[in-house]
Amino acid sequence: MTLRASQAGPSFDAVIERKETVADGVVELVMRTHDGADLPVWEPGSHIDLVFGDGLVRQYSLCGEPGDRRSIRVAVLRAPDGRGGSAFVHDRLAVGDAITLRGPRNNFRLVDADRYLFVAGGIGITPLLPMLRSVNARSVPWRLAYGGRTRASMAYADDLMKDHPGSVEILPEDETGLLPLDRILRDADDRTAVYCCGPEPLLSAVEQMCARFSIGNLNVERFAPRADAEAAPTTSFEIELFSSGRTLQVGPDESILDVLERAGVPVDSSCREGTCATCETGVVAGVPDHRDAVLNESERSENKTMMICVSRCQGLRLVLDV
Ligand code: FES
Repeated sequence: MTLRASQAGPSFDAVIERKETVADGVVELVMRTHDGADLPVWEPGSHIDLVFGDGLVRQYSLCGEPGDRRSIRVAVLRAPDGRGGSAFVHDRLAVGDAITLRGPRNNFRLVDADRYLFVAGGIGITPLLPMLRSVNARSVPWRLAYGGRTRASMAYADDLMKDHPGSVEILPEDETGLLPLDRILRDADDRTAVYCCGPEPLLSAVEQMCARFSIGNLNVERFAPRADAEAAPTTSFEIELFSSGRTLQVGPDESILDVLERAGVPVDSSCREGTCATCETGVVAGVPDHRDAVLNESERSENKTMMICVSRCQGLRLVLDV
């Protein structure tokens, strides 16, 4: 079985080289390794963990140039109802500060296609920037529909319009309303790869619209847990560790990851909410109840891997490749 090579990955020490406001509520961080060593290679769609200490770890999409081994760039939206990561970046992190980075990892790969349609909502523009630059450099046709609350809140909107006026539509909600997905998606066909990143209502609406138009090549990235998964009921089940034959019980109020950690079984994890793929684990037998925001529909139906921080069991028993 193939995991997405997303286990926690190497961590390394970095320094904040630049911190700049790039839109209302959005700061851009440019970081370099603290000893001047080359940064890891990454691909469009990748994200990186920022490890703030005190167990606070957050994932942010890389929005710079994949070929740049000297600096790495993320943009962070202040989330007023967030859990502390964006507030730390906005209020406490300063130029010259040391920070630990982990990764990069890629759960949002750019597949080959004859043309591309990118749909961004707000800070969801960040993973799409290296993608559209890559596609543009290969002279493959592409379009971007970029929505946001207001023009001033939309990071990189001016640069995108300046650099690609014929391919980019900027659609601030206070000027033009919600993204007209019907019109945006209507011309996408089987040869079009659709990439969407943004808030959950946008992702859900694009998924529904693509199902309606029978658009099969849809790729979305979520940085928040699926709302339907959080509300789903939970029951007890048993897991067997394939390597040892050991069995463990998972209660209704705990995750597989909790149970493995308590039993002293080494497993990688980061977000613990089904969005980063660090805990992806092979499934040898049994049917998972997928509750993550990483696997796509075909990966879910294959049942070869699962995210053990949130996903559970359809039935009474799973055998895991642990
Ligand atoms: S730890 Fe992030 S998906 Fe499980």
